[in-house]
Amino acid sequence: MVVSGSPTASQVGREILQRGGNAVDAAVAVGFALAVVHPEAGNIGGGGFMVVRPRDGRVETLDYRETAPARATRDMYRSAGPDASVTGHLSAGVPGAVAGLTEAHRRYGRLPFAAVIQPAIRLATEGFVIDDYRNLSIADDSARLVLFPGSRATFLPADRPPAPGTTFRQPELGATLEAIRDSGAAGFYQGWVADLIVAEMKRGGGLISSDDLEAYRAIWRDPIEISYRGYTIYSMPPASSGGVTMGEIFNVMEGFGALPPFGSAALMHWEAEAMRRAFTDRNTYLGDPAFVRNPTDRLLSKQYASELRGQIGSRASATPAFEPAPGGGASTTHYSVIDSEGNAVSCTTTLNNSYGSAVTVTGAGFLLNDEMDDFATSPGEPNMYGLVQGEANAIAPGKRMLSAMTPSIVLDPKKQLHMVVGTPGGPKIITMVYHVISNVIDHHMPLADAVVAPRMHHQALPDSLQVESDGFLPETLDSLRQRGHGISRRGNWGDVEGIIRTPTGWQGVSDPRRGGGGSGY
Ligand code: DON
Repeated sequence: MVVSGSPTASQVGREILQRGGNAVDAAVAVGFALAVVHPEAGNIGGGGFMVVRPRDGRVETLDYRETAPARATRDMYRSAGPDASVTGHLSAGVPGAVAGLTEAHRRYGRLPFAAVIQPAIRLATEGFVIDDYRNLSIADDSARLVLFPGSRATFLPADRPPAPGTTFRQPELGATLEAIRDSGAAGFYQGWVADLIVAEMKRGGGLISSDDLEAYRAIWRDPIEISYRGYTIYSMPPASSGGVTMGEIFNVMEGFGALPPFGSAALMHWEAEAMRRAFTDRNTYLGDPAFVRNPTDRLLSKQYASELRGQIGSRASATPAFEPAPGGGASTTHYSVIDSEGNAVSCTTTLNNSYGSAVTVTGAGFLLNDEMDDFATSPGEPNMYGLVQGEANAIAPGKRMLSAMTPSIVLDPKKQLHMVVGTPGGPKIITMVYHVISNVIDHHMPLADAVVAPRMHHQALPDSLQVESDGFLPETLDSLRQRGHGISRRGNWGDVEGIIRTPTGWQGVSDPRRGGGGSGY
């Protein structure tokens, strides 16, 4: 079973499984395919995180997060103009995706690498049919894409987004993928592709050098392990904040005992207060473990959760200074894979903003990320997602910027594989993955209901409880206001892609909020 942000990429994953590939082969094939068919977020010019659970029960995570170029400095964005960490060459970190996908395949793959990357090459060179979702997605970001010649040529042929129903070909991207097929990671980090990245940097005043590219490495790390009401949740450690922050929320909620019903003000108040505290710790303490000591054991202890729970009364803990919730792109995507032997992969990958920096490397056909904005670009001031972060996540050369991505794998109380789940959504990723898992465990929802259910989010600052529009009763929101919460209602968010064990087999669920889809056999 494969679920992802693109039905076409999920079909690629299924083909690889049916040809004898394992879950990692399929995940790597989906990762490269998403770079072709889901350009807003699927990427080789960005980075991501993968949680792998082979059927022997070991769990490992792979960190292929971008790094700050060697020439980056703590205050580089103070003088560079307001948009420089979000759009254009200066916003790009050193890409990690190709190092990550090739390393995952080296360690776990069963099929030859060329077989795993071939479907992506085919989709790039022969093209694929544009659906409504991808047409609208390119249209939404056309004002940024048109600014950079490589992006304009690739995504706006005839100066408009490719129309639904037409075949979209990306020959330059196809050639880049062939270089990776033939030379592995070296086909990207050295040779003509690397030369084109460095030339693109020179053209637009970016910082990534050939030394930065050669030095990039993906890192295997132990997962964050959370025990919750007998279930075990494995998720990402720093350089993602996902596992630690979600673990803090779960630990606080567990101690409340049986939870009030879904959708009640009583439940949402406790959740908002747990989220507020977990995000405060996230934003204060967490950062790249090569640069800061993350107090993970303390933050994840049940004793600490009990102290936090003791602070939660019947009213919101801070006086809501209502601020409208920040916007933010949609340039992350998640995919979950389980093969017929029970090997599982949970992978989230991102360019950060939708279409990343909006810079396509001329001649190489792929978009560069704008992941530098995930650093505290101006410590103490909000970033694109409204996160106010501190010194632990300040910019330093070679450092990984703190992420919120939360690819997760859940075991049932018998320690059997139960669920694989994740989503895009900036800081809301953490609370969405919490919601979906809690909806299943605490509210006994089938996965489809757990994914569809309305979502709420609190990230400490801005001090407002964000809720999906039309999801909650007005009386519930009034009751939360009376408890002192500032409520911000806005649209909907996320694209949860999950798989769960059911009595009749694995069931894949693709979030109806976006254009994803699953494929299984
Ligand atoms: O790594 C992070 O936390 C962010 N760059 C994720 C951004 C994101 O999810 C945007 N997509 N909706």
